[in-house]
Amino acid sequence: MLILVLLSISSVEGQGGGGGGVIDVVTKFGAKADEKTDLSKPLLDAWKEACASTSPSKIVISKRIYFVSTATLDGPCKAPIELQVQGTVKALADPGAFKEPKWISFNRIENFKLSGGGVFDGQGTTAYKREGCKGHAYYGSLPINLRFDFLTNAMIQDITTKDSKQFQANVLGCKNITFEHFTISAPDESPNTDGIHIGRSDGVNVLNSEIKTGDDCVSIRDGSKNLVINGVTCGPGHGIRIGSLGLFKNEEPVDGVTLKNCTMTNTSNGVRIKTWPCNSPKLGLVGTEVSGPQNLRYK
Ligand SMILES: *[C@@H]1O[C@H](CO)[C@@H](O)[C@H](O)[C@H]1NC(C)=O
Ligand SMILES: *[C@@H]1O[C@H](CO)[C@@H](O)[C@H](O)[C@H]1NC(C)=O
Ligand SMILES: *[C@@H]1O[C@H](CO)[C@@H](O)[C@H](O)[C@H]1NC(C)=O
Repeated sequence: MLILVLLSISSVEGQGGGGGGVIDVVTKFGAKADEKTDLSKPLLDAWKEACASTSPSKIVISKRIYFVSTATLDGPCKAPIELQVQGTVKALADPGAFKEPKWISFNRIENFKLSGGGVFDGQGTTAYKREGCKGHAYYGSLPINLRFDFLTNAMIQDITTKDSKQFQANVLGCKNITFEHFTISAPDESPNTDGIHIGRSDGVNVLNSEIKTGDDCVSIRDGSKNLVINGVTCGPGHGIRIGSLGLFKNEEPVDGVTLKNCTMTNTSNGVRIKTWPCNSPKLGLVGTEVSGPQNLRYK
């Protein structure tokens, strides 16, 4: 593996890319590390090149502060791909600048890794104030910091998401995705800032992570199967929620949720299951193991 990486690096340095390896967005695509120059285009250019590579590749965003208007990084890619964010990536503060409910999205990628110790800062404080006025006009289009849509075999490791204007991370249609040392931070009073919102996914692991936010720590919607939450500290926020389930007729059951070794610090609830009066005969919670003092500590 090490040899492979070293070979890939030298092949990039030797012939200017195309063969995988490590791509530095700043040095290779002329990105600027300042808070006014949009990193979006250089990042998409780097992604395009890495995604087309037939050997594993890694894109590096170095340890500075950057600004990204919005970016959707699409697969499928030809080989495993990693985005290593070492610095801080900031969104526009103005909630009106977003036309769709997304900021940075990862879509239809297999063997994907997001790592690096960096921070995605949604600069949501302005949005929280306007939400306070009950102006629901753009409620639905407020951007979610990180979207993981239809990923297979993904690892999200050593990443922080803070002050999203809406959910911090949304997981939809994924198979085998792990969040480890994933840090979420938003103020207690931030509305609708669920930590990790999961739906229609099979094999989601949330491990050794810290989630401080204004709404649910982890929210689990219909069609979620084989979910493990282990070593997670929640709070402030509303705790862990399964539901709401049963509002729509075609909902799939939630099947197999394991919660272990979690700590709730100043959360309004521990674990809740919310259902609507049963519309759906298929509505079900199968093999769900959520309580017991050994699994949940309250502080
Ligand atoms: C799940 O994904 C990880 C990468 O995050 C990979 O190492 C592992 O082999 C995958 N598991 C299966 C059963 O495919
Ligand atoms: C329990 O969770 C903590 C993180 O909160 C982790 O460091 C520890 O390894 C976990 N213990 C077990 C037995 O999984
Ligand atoms: C707990 O949360 C309440 C608001 O929900 C806050 O006022 C209080 O300071 C918090 N306490 C601790 C110990 O964090």
